[in-house]
Amino acid sequence: MSGLTTLRDYIRWAISRLNQAQVFFAQDGDNVFEEARALVLGSLYLPDQLHDKYLDCNLHADEQVLLQAVLKKRIEQRIPAAYLLGEAWFAGLLFKVDERVMIPRSPLAELIAQRFSPWLINMPLRILDLGTGSGCLGISCALEFPEAEVVLADISEPALQVAAENIALHQLESRVRIQYSDMFAQLQGQRFDLIICKPPYLSAEQWAQLPRELHYEPEVSSIANNGGLECIESVLQQAGQHLNDNGLLVIDVGPQRSRLMALYPEIDFICLEHPYPGTDVLALTAQQCAAYQALN
Ligand SMILES: C[S@@+](CC[C@H](N)C(=O)[O-])C[C@H]1O[C@@H](n2cnc3c(N)ncnc32)[C@H](O)[C@@H]1O
Repeated sequence: MSGLTTLRDYIRWAISRLNQAQVFFAQDGDNVFEEARALVLGSLYLPDQLHDKYLDCNLHADEQVLLQAVLKKRIEQRIPAAYLLGEAWFAGLLFKVDERVMIPRSPLAELIAQRFSPWLINMPLRILDLGTGSGCLGISCALEFPEAEVVLADISEPALQVAAENIALHQLESRVRIQYSDMFAQLQGQRFDLIICKPPYLSAEQWAQLPRELHYEPEVSSIANNGGLECIESVLQQAGQHLNDNGLLVIDVGPQRSRLMALYPEIDFICLEHPYPGTDVLALTAQQCAAYQALN
């Protein structure tokens, strides 16, 4: 392509093309500058933190062809950058991702870094990440709570394979393990100090309205019956039987907070503050989970 020779040229060109095509950014906080840089550097196996002095290096003809093909896929097929690159950042950590798992994005990243203060009373020794996908939440917790053993559970075997790859990537095999489970069915008799969960929470109609990029994600990671509430209600119903006395359930309920509050006015859901609009994270103590269970 005439006129484009350096890394800097290709990043600038990618910014123009992505803007023109009005692509959707599948990760929190992503913007066109970050995505153009990530696509160009990542596709050429260059580190994210590459020093600016390299940006004026000329690209080999094969590299130029590769970058043009990647941009074409991103724009014409709307494949998310994370899937094109096979990786995504979450909570300051790198995770392997592909179309077997949802691309990590949740306000839980900030809340994990704050160790769920002041709601989590004791340092957790056993943590469950239910509906783990790539394992991003449970692995971030494992690194934040270095004494804890962590179970990454999911109904999707392909997702669990990705989670296992991420356990290995972060060298956490001694403390973190995968477990197939349909909600809590395969976790009978197990108790935890912290249960963290981002379940599927959209109705099929809401999912159909999502940008094309998000339709590359597995449907099982997004869609739940009962207008998106089925998995959330199932977690709320059963978590109490799996929490220790001072335990805490933290659940990303997406856009469903107001429906839950209207359905269960007796439950004093703790709403955890974070800067992202349109999605909510709720916390329930073991006692509140027991109260919820008693209502049903
Ligand atoms: C919204 S995604 C969250 C993935 C990951 N925790 C994250 O934050 O990126 C929901 C996950 O729940 C899993 N899931 C769906 N139904 C489930 C069920 N009945 N039992 C266990 N996991 C389930 C999906 O396979 C998917 O990985």
